[in-house]
Amino acid sequence: MTLRIGVLISGRGTNLQALIDACAEPTYPAEIAMVISNEPDAKGLERAQDARIPTKIIEHRAFMDRSAFEAALTSSLQRAGVELVCNAGFMRILTGTFVDTWHNRAINIHPSLLPAFTGLKTHERAIRSGVRFSGCTVHFIRAALDAGPIIIQSVVPVLPTDTPEDLAARVLESEHKCLPQAVRWIAEGRVRVVDEIVQIEEADGTTDVLTNPSIAS
Ligand code: GAR
Repeated sequence: MTLRIGVLISGRGTNLQALIDACAEPTYPAEIAMVISNEPDAKGLERAQDARIPTKIIEHRAFMDRSAFEAALTSSLQRAGVELVCNAGFMRILTGTFVDTWHNRAINIHPSLLPAFTGLKTHERAIRSGVRFSGCTVHFIRAALDAGPIIIQSVVPVLPTDTPEDLAARVLESEHKCLPQAVRWIAEGRVRVVDEIVQIEEADGTTDVLTNPSIAS
């Protein structure tokens, strides 16, 4: 039995592609039941269609308010038999009933080391702040923006010459590893949330210490 996931996108869909590629592996424990975009011309829709995954456009602008939009999302996801929602570059804030309905069954990928740099323009803000590392976070969705129990993070260095685009590309590469891994752990039934902290059965922590700049330099 594979876990049925529903992927929400708004744009180019490279994280969706990482999930599509992971699901193509015969032993991967999840399958994509549906891709929904709130933007009609999202490039990610073509990726889904190429992979013969059902797609749906649900434009937020077509709804009276956020809760009507979110109700439409939930009803499409439920009709498709979705068990886990994955926000992969979905650029709408999710609230109230949606968040409650999908409690511990909806995850998001964000291009920073949360809780730092929630919201938009993460890379620009990371560079301007002078942090030496950035990265990405996959977390369960809660009502607050870019907040919720953290499943996996990955760290990448911020280099003195980085433009926001350079840093975005480095972080994106790490996102493509983290999102399919988080879904795998959940699909394998190894993830629990206890007091808002994620426990992953038999997942080893790392004790590697990284410095940037390197101390040897
Ligand atoms: C990714 O970097 C993702 O982390 C970010 O949007 C990009 C989507 O790229 N998401 C957010 O900023 C959500 N707060 P993709 O469409 O190529 O996957």
